[in-house]
Amino acid sequence: MQANTPEQTKTILTDLVLPSETNPLNNLFGGELLARMDRAASISARRHSRRITVTASVNHVAFNRSVPLGSVVTVEAKVSRAFKSSMEIYIDVWIEDRISGQKSKANEAIYTFVAVDETGTPVPVPPIEPQTKLEKERYEGALRRKQLSLVLAGKMKPQDATELKALFTD
Ligand SMILES: CC(C)(COP(=O)(O)OP(=O)(O)OC[C@H]1O[C@@H](n2cnc3c(N)ncnc32)[C@H](O)[C@@H]1OP(=O)(O)O)[C@@H](O)C(=O)NCCC(=O)NCCS
Repeated sequence: MQANTPEQTKTILTDLVLPSETNPLNNLFGGELLARMDRAASISARRHSRRITVTASVNHVAFNRSVPLGSVVTVEAKVSRAFKSSMEIYIDVWIEDRISGQKSKANEAIYTFVAVDETGTPVPVPPIEPQTKLEKERYEGALRRKQLSLVLAGKMKPQDATELKALFTD
C-alpha cells in the first residue's frame, strides 16, 4: 500500500462561532468543538485510507483557551501515525485575530480512527511517513498513546504496554 505523508492527509475546517454554539460565558461550547474536530479528523483519516472510517477513541483533548463568540476558528487535522487498521489523528485548533489576521493556537486534541469495510470490520491502512521535526515527534509518541488508550479501554494489559511502561522506568 502506498504510504502518505501527514501533509497529504491535512484537513482544514474554518468556521465562525455563532450564538447557538456558545455557553453562558459566550464562549464556544466544548461539545461543539469536539464535533468540529471529529469531522476534520474523519476526513483526514479517509484521505489517508480511502476507506470508511469510524471514531474509535478520543485520546486527549486540552481546552487550554476559551474561544469567544464571533471568533474565526480553524481546525487542522493530520494523520500522525498509522498502525494496522487504526490511525492517530492530531488536531490543532487556531483562532484568528479580527484586526491583525494573526492566528494563535487555542486548543489541541488526539483522536483514533479505524478504517472499516461495509460490514464494519477493520481493514488495513497504508503507512505514514513523517517529514518535519514535529511530525516525527508526533509519530514517535503515537505508539505510547495507542497503548495508553487501549489500557484505559481495558483492551490491553498494562504489563503488555512495553513502550508506555518504558516512559516511567527508563
Ligand atoms: C472501532 C472498532 C471498529 C474497533 O473494533 P474492534 O472489534 O475493537 O477491532 P480490533 O480489536 O481489531 O481493533 C481495531 C483497531 O482499533 C484499535 N482500537 C480499538 N479500540 C481502541 C481504543 N480505545 N484506543 C485506541 N485504539 C483502539 C485497535 O488497537 C486496532 O488497531 P490496529 O488494527 O491498528 O492494531 C469498533 O469498536 C467500532 O465499530 N466502534 C464503534 C465506532 C463508532 O461508531 N464510532 C462513532 C461513535 S458515535
